[in-house]
Amino acid sequence: MDIVELGRNAGATSESTDCTSCELRASEERYRNLIQYLPTALWQVDSRRVGEIFDRLKANGVCDIAAYLDQNRDLVIHAGNVVRVTEVNRDAVSLFRANNAAELLKPIRYLFAAAPELAKRVMAAHFEGRRNFIEETRILAFDGTMIDVLFTVTYPRPPEQLDTTFITIQDISERLNAEQQLRKLQADFTHAGRIATLGELATSIAHEINQPLAAIVMNGETSLRWLARADQNTEKVTELTSRIVSNARRASEIIQRIRGMAAKQEPEKRLIDLNEVVEEALLFIRPDIDSRLIDLSTIFGSGLPRVLGDRIQLQQVIINLLVNSIQAITLSGQPTRRIDIQTSIDEDGSVVFSVFDNGPGIAAADLTHIFDSFFSTKDTGIGIGLAICQSIITAHGGRISGSNRPNGGAHFRFTLPVPAFADADSGVVDFMRQTHQPI
Ligand SMILES: Nc1ncnc2c1ncn2[C@@H]1O[C@H](COP(=O)(O)OP(=O)(O)O)[C@@H](O)[C@H]1O
Ligand SMILES: [Mg+2]
Repeated sequence: MDIVELGRNAGATSESTDCTSCELRASEERYRNLIQYLPTALWQVDSRRVGEIFDRLKANGVCDIAAYLDQNRDLVIHAGNVVRVTEVNRDAVSLFRANNAAELLKPIRYLFAAAPELAKRVMAAHFEGRRNFIEETRILAFDGTMIDVLFTVTYPRPPEQLDTTFITIQDISERLNAEQQLRKLQADFTHAGRIATLGELATSIAHEINQPLAAIVMNGETSLRWLARADQNTEKVTELTSRIVSNARRASEIIQRIRGMAAKQEPEKRLIDLNEVVEEALLFIRPDIDSRLIDLSTIFGSGLPRVLGDRIQLQQVIINLLVNSIQAITLSGQPTRRIDIQTSIDEDGSVVFSVFDNGPGIAAADLTHIFDSFFSTKDTGIGIGLAICQSIITAHGGRISGSNRPNGGAHFRFTLPVPAFADADSGVVDFMRQTHQPI
C-alpha cells in the first residue's frame, strides 16, 4: 500500500514536473506566437551592456546624458554594436525587405542607419529611466528604400531586465502620404476660395459701379447735346460736368470700400447722421428717379441720434435699395409710380431707414431667398445687391429685412444700433421735416 502510494506519489510528482515544463514550453510558444503575429514590426533587444555602462556613468556623477553623448560620440557607436537584436517578427522581416529573421538578428545599429541622431535620443530616454520613447523618423531598408516610420521603444520594468527591451516600428508612409495629399487638397481649397472671393469681388464691383457709370454716361451725353446747341449754356454744362466728376469720385470710392471689404478691413466707422447719408445717396440716384417719372417722397425723422457707420457703405445700401425699387416699378409698368422714404427711430431706440415702393412686390416663394448671393428674378440681374446690403448692415450691428406692403408693393428697411454715448436729443420722431416732392 505504502509502496503503491509512494509509487503513485512518485508518479504524480514526475507527472507534475513534466506538466510544469510543458506549461512553460506552451507559454513560451504563446509568447513567440504573439510576437510573430503581432500586426506591427517588432524587435526584442538585449541592452544590458549599455545598462552597465550607464550605471557606471551615474556612479561617476553624469547627469546630463545628452551633453555627455554629444562629447562622447564613440559611446553611441559602441552602443550600436553591443546592443543586439535577439528576436524579430515577420513584419520586421518584411519591413526591412530582408529574406529571413536571421538577417535582422545582429547589432542594433542598422535600425539607425537613416537617422543616426535617433540612437542618441533612444539612449538618453533609457538613461533617464523613461518607460518608453516614441518618435516619427525614417529607416533605411536593406534594399535601400527609405521608409517613414513611427519608432517606439518600450523599456523593461523592472529596469534590470534589459534583455527584453522592445522596439516596434510602424510604417507610416501611407499615412504621411495621405496627410500630404490632404494638405495639398486644403491648399487647393484655399486657393479656390480666394479665386471665388476674387470672382465675387469683381461681381460686386461691377454691380456697384454700374450706377455711377450709367450716371456719368447720361450726364456726359446731355452735356454733349448742350454743347452742340447754338445757344450754349455754360451753366448747364458746368452742372453736368460736376455731376460727372462726383459720380466718377463715387465709383472710385466704392471700389476702395469693396476692396477693403474683401481684405476684411473694418468699415471706416464714424458718428454720422443717417438723414445726411440718405440725402447724399439721393443726390446720386435722383437723376434715375427723375428720368423715370417716379414720384419720390421723403420723411426725415428729426432729432435722430447719430449712429456709428461707414458713410460710403451706408450710401451704397440706400442706393441699392432704391435701384431695386426703381427697377421693380419700371418693370411692372405701373401708371403711377411712387417711392416713399422714411427715417425714424424704433421702439428699441435703433435708427431705421425704410423704403416703400408701389411695384409688384416680392413673390411669396422668393421672400426667403432675396438676400442670397446671386438670387435674382431679373433677366439682367446679378443678384448681389441685397447680399451686399445685408453684409454691410450686419457689419454695422444692424438688421435688414424686406416684406410686402398690405396694398401691394415692397417695403425694405434696415435698422442701425445707436451707440450708448451717441448724442440723442430725444427719442421722439418728429415728422415736421416731411417733404413731398412730386416730380
Ligand atoms: N423693391 C423690390 N420689389 C420687388 N422685388 C424686389 C425688390 N427688391 C429686390 N427684389 C427681389 O430681390 C431680388 C434680389 O435683389 P438684388 O440682390 O438686388 O439682385 P438684382 O437686383 O440683381 O436682382 C430681385 O431680383 C427681386 O426679385
Ligand atoms: Mg439689385
